[in-house]
Amino acid sequence: MELPVQKNQEYEITIEDLGNNGEGIGRIEGYTVFVEGALPGERVRVLMVKTKKHYGYGKLREILEPSPDRITPVCPVAEKCGGCQLQHLSYEAQLAFKTKKVKDHLERIGGLTGIEVLPAIGMEDPWRYRNKAQFPVGGEKGAPQIGFYAKRSHRIIDTPACYLQNEVNDAIVQIVRDFLTENKIPLYDEETHSGLVRHILTRVGRQSGQIMVCIVINGKNLPQSQKLVERLTAVPGMTSIVLNENRKATNVILGEKIHVLWGKEFITDTIGSVEFEISPLSFYQVNPIQTRVLYQTALDFADLDGTETVLDLYCGIGTISLFFAQKAKRVFGVEIVPQAIEDAKRNAARNHMDNAFFQAGAAEEVIPRLYETEGLQADVVVVDPPRKGCDQRLLETILEIAPKKLVYVSCDSATLARDLAYLCPRGYRVEKVQVVDQFPWTVHVESVALLSKE
Ligand SMILES: C[S@@+](CC[C@H](N)C(=O)[O-])C[C@H]1O[C@@H](n2cnc3c(N)ncnc32)[C@H](O)[C@@H]1O
Repeated sequence: MELPVQKNQEYEITIEDLGNNGEGIGRIEGYTVFVEGALPGERVRVLMVKTKKHYGYGKLREILEPSPDRITPVCPVAEKCGGCQLQHLSYEAQLAFKTKKVKDHLERIGGLTGIEVLPAIGMEDPWRYRNKAQFPVGGEKGAPQIGFYAKRSHRIIDTPACYLQNEVNDAIVQIVRDFLTENKIPLYDEETHSGLVRHILTRVGRQSGQIMVCIVINGKNLPQSQKLVERLTAVPGMTSIVLNENRKATNVILGEKIHVLWGKEFITDTIGSVEFEISPLSFYQVNPIQTRVLYQTALDFADLDGTETVLDLYCGIGTISLFFAQKAKRVFGVEIVPQAIEDAKRNAARNHMDNAFFQAGAAEEVIPRLYETEGLQADVVVVDPPRKGCDQRLLETILEIAPKKLVYVSCDSATLARDLAYLCPRGYRVEKVQVVDQFPWTVHVESVALLSKE
């Protein structure tokens, strides 16, 4: 069958929608064309660069009629860098896109129509919000490249500043860059799995001001590390400087071993009135301002009166657990990373909360086992799984436990829709879904769904 478009030919097209990855979507005689950088409502000229049977990709050549929502990106490398996908779209329009994305997924993937999806709660100032940065390091000995990966590749874009990160990172990266250059430290080459320094990871406590710098190395020791420590400790707030040993030929950034070079192995920060210890290997939400909004939404949805037993599944370092423990009778958290559970227990003790309990293990194993052997019960269940969503075994057991309320915190609305579609015909009703913008300028969407037992 002949396609209505040909590769290497130019076409004019009207963009109708935004795809999941922020690309514009238009049609030529019913044939779907994805155009990176184009926005809904725009008339554009594209060069067809890839044509498949049912869809193709066009390279944006010219914007003939721009959208009123189009803005000029603040970051000079926004178009090349893989970190932001929506810097050319106004913030208001991004929020509308995210609300629509969740609604669309619930309808298309979950078959769930008529659900109240509340408009995305955005940030007053959507810049410099991240508390964690991971900069890949590469290049030649004495000439480091430090920055971010280009879109769809592992080519490093050297970046002096990132507008999503805390300003202090600009200074830290410069210190590490100078140290690597002056001391001709071997830099990691992903293709040959050789060289030493792979990544710089930083964490900044927004409330505490404490800073952690973690240098990820393909080895055990960093030559001349005392020189680096001397310079980094001059940065106000520096609390922890550690090495992470990652000798595997893998895309996973962190290895398992941590060696403290200076200071503590963790930093602390607060969410609301609860203080947390955060170690380099533990998951901690990256946008502290919106995390507070997210957790408060989850807590409001749970509407606790102090008599409830709450399960917090996929609990990380116990942030939601301790937020809820202030209002519940008791909370039981389960998380697969043992170190995060150690953090969670220490965090409970640190905040004098004796009604929060934690266990390490896969939620889909721990919860069915405790239900079968000890008759585990709960009034409210909170789940906050990674992007792949909940394991079906876990959902089955939640249905057996039959909590009055289930609060589902999701970072992927496609898997949220899939899991809600499983729960809904089995005795639960989706009351509402609140979208919270945790990741301005990117396509990522966070949402909280409230389900109640019918
Ligand atoms: C999106 S994070 C949420 C963490 C925490 N609720 C928070 O807000 O910081 C998901 C967490 O699930 C954990 N995880 C992944 N697979 C798991 C599993 N099968 N069982 C339990 N926890 C798991 C991850 O290690 C991570 O800490």
